[in-house]
Amino acid sequence: MDRRPIIAGNWKMNKTVGEALSLVRDLRSLVSMVRDRVEVVVAPPFTALHPVGKALEDSNIGLAGQNCHWEPSGAYTGEISAPMLKEAGCTYVILGHSERRQYFGETDETVNRRALSAVKYGLVPILCIGETLKERESNQTLEVVRRQVRGALAGFAAAEVARFVIAYEPVWAIGTGKTATSDQAQEVHAFIREQLVELYDRRTADHVRIQYGGSVKPDNAADLLSKPDVDGALVGGASLKAADFAAIVKAAP
Ligand code: 13P
Repeated sequence: MDRRPIIAGNWKMNKTVGEALSLVRDLRSLVSMVRDRVEVVVAPPFTALHPVGKALEDSNIGLAGQNCHWEPSGAYTGEISAPMLKEAGCTYVILGHSERRQYFGETDETVNRRALSAVKYGLVPILCIGETLKERESNQTLEVVRRQVRGALAGFAAAEVARFVIAYEPVWAIGTGKTATSDQAQEVHAFIREQLVELYDRRTADHVRIQYGGSVKPDNAADLLSKPDVDGALVGGASLKAADFAAIVKAAP
């Protein structure tokens, strides 16, 4: 199955509009040579989405939001909705990131509700899942991942899920400089794909791209991306520097 690698930069709560524009200006030229061979996406903070989207017009870099609410509008102070992201130029939305789960009370159920709204308004979810260190050390990794995949995908049809991106991000590898080995990543990625076969069918499972996230850097990206079920990367810290992010994009097979 030929899955186009997808490398996404999750900027988290970083970059003012000015800084964001300067970063994408550099990035545009640095990644233009991969053309359509690798899909490149950036997820700036909400305030920078629209200007960054404008700056990326006619480029090969797509835009993602970092979260969205399950309602299209209403009295939800501090939230952003799927149609708002769509209008700002987003194609994707990151959902269920472990920082959202850890600090802002996201659960499998709220992630699922947000995903349903994202799809309804034409966005493709990048669904984040992954175990904590405690869960890995007590051999619960696969059970946790299984629960998170099933929870997030409740109520979706196979044709919808086929377009999704799933990001496996072991919590212990995020921002710690401690990456999963490529074999550890491959084991969980293959397991996630098997879950998709069980929930839907082989064809759907073979379509879904599964990214690895957690301390991906220019020097470990090629090894991780060489694994058969690792279809891309969700990059945090290293996506804030144009040269590092471009090096990771170029490491995609
Ligand atoms: P780091 O690459 O900084 O470890 O962050 C990974 C991440 O959380 C991407 O969503």
